[in-house]
Amino acid sequence: MTAPPAATPLITRVARADAAAIREAAERLAAGGLVAFPTETVYGLGADATNGEAIARLYAAKGRPQFNPLIAHVADLAAARALARFSAEAERLARAFWPGPLTLVLPKAANCPVAELATAGLDSIAVRVPRHEVAQQILAAFARPIVAPSANRSGHVSPTTAAHVLADLRGRIDLIVDGGATSVGLESTIVACLGVPTLLRPGGLPRADIERVLGHPLAERPPATVAADAAPRAPGMLASHYAPRTPLRLDAERVETGEALLAFGPRPAAGAEKAAMALNLSARGDLIEAAANLFSHLRALDAAGASRIAVMPIPQDGLGEAINDRLTRAAAPR
Ligand code: TXA
Ligand code: MG
Repeated sequence: MTAPPAATPLITRVARADAAAIREAAERLAAGGLVAFPTETVYGLGADATNGEAIARLYAAKGRPQFNPLIAHVADLAAARALARFSAEAERLARAFWPGPLTLVLPKAANCPVAELATAGLDSIAVRVPRHEVAQQILAAFARPIVAPSANRSGHVSPTTAAHVLADLRGRIDLIVDGGATSVGLESTIVACLGVPTLLRPGGLPRADIERVLGHPLAERPPATVAADAAPRAPGMLASHYAPRTPLRLDAERVETGEALLAFGPRPAAGAEKAAMALNLSARGDLIEAAANLFSHLRALDAAGASRIAVMPIPQDGLGEAINDRLTRAAAPR
């Protein structure tokens, strides 16, 4: 799964998110360029959703397996209707949570302008209305849907700062619009509304919030191990997707020699003082703070040269479900 080398190395410009940068982003997108920008979840790598060649360059820049379809970002529900068909339940979720960290997988609309390559030949499409002001400004300036996977090399953790994007994609994309660190820090929650609403990926919007609006539980996606082989049905569920290079050991109660520590909560694991490096997702045990720190802490610990990263147990409630999902993927053997 190594990326094909980009045909010509690009100069990657980093620009603070002011009016000029927003204009430049829209111009570069219109010219088929690749522009990374912040959303409230993670930084996305944007391309014109209607331009198949731009999308092909995007896959090459990420080194992404081509069967993994992309999320189309739009400014609002009205713009989303041009891409997809909304069931009554999908409509309810969109009204309750957009703009925000929820992606809906829906049947593609008849005249959906999104390039076939972006949806990997599926007859469904993933759509999201981001809440971040910079994302909204770029969508308004561009006035077309933007496909944007997380702005990392395939298999790396998602970027929550412009510096993370630069570290992964320098020379492979045109522009990074720097809007500071993202607030949610986890990717959007993905719900398929193709029949019974089904949770495809836990994320920045807790499942309970969605189920409260629906008035019933979400159906479950097939287990990750099964889905890894069943790419077209539940893509993006590759078992080892969110992967630092250093192996992870989950639910660690004590730190072993040579390990770095990813802590959670006020009480450090036994032996924490001998850790090669220790970072706490949230010393006060706040899962929202933990989510926002997850990917940057993983990156920092990965760079510490430890033999392994010991991860303390994280409660499964609220955003804990999504955090544990990412950690389980990162720990999957590969
Ligand atoms: O928070 C987010 O969702 C970020 C920001 C940038 O918006 N984007 C993001 O994109 O995480 P990406 O490409 O890294 O993850 C999108 C996931 C993939 O796992 C993909 O397989 C899944 O969405 N997906 C896209 N279209 C789908 C479809 N039609 N059916 C099922 N899964 C789909
Ligand atoms: Mg991703």
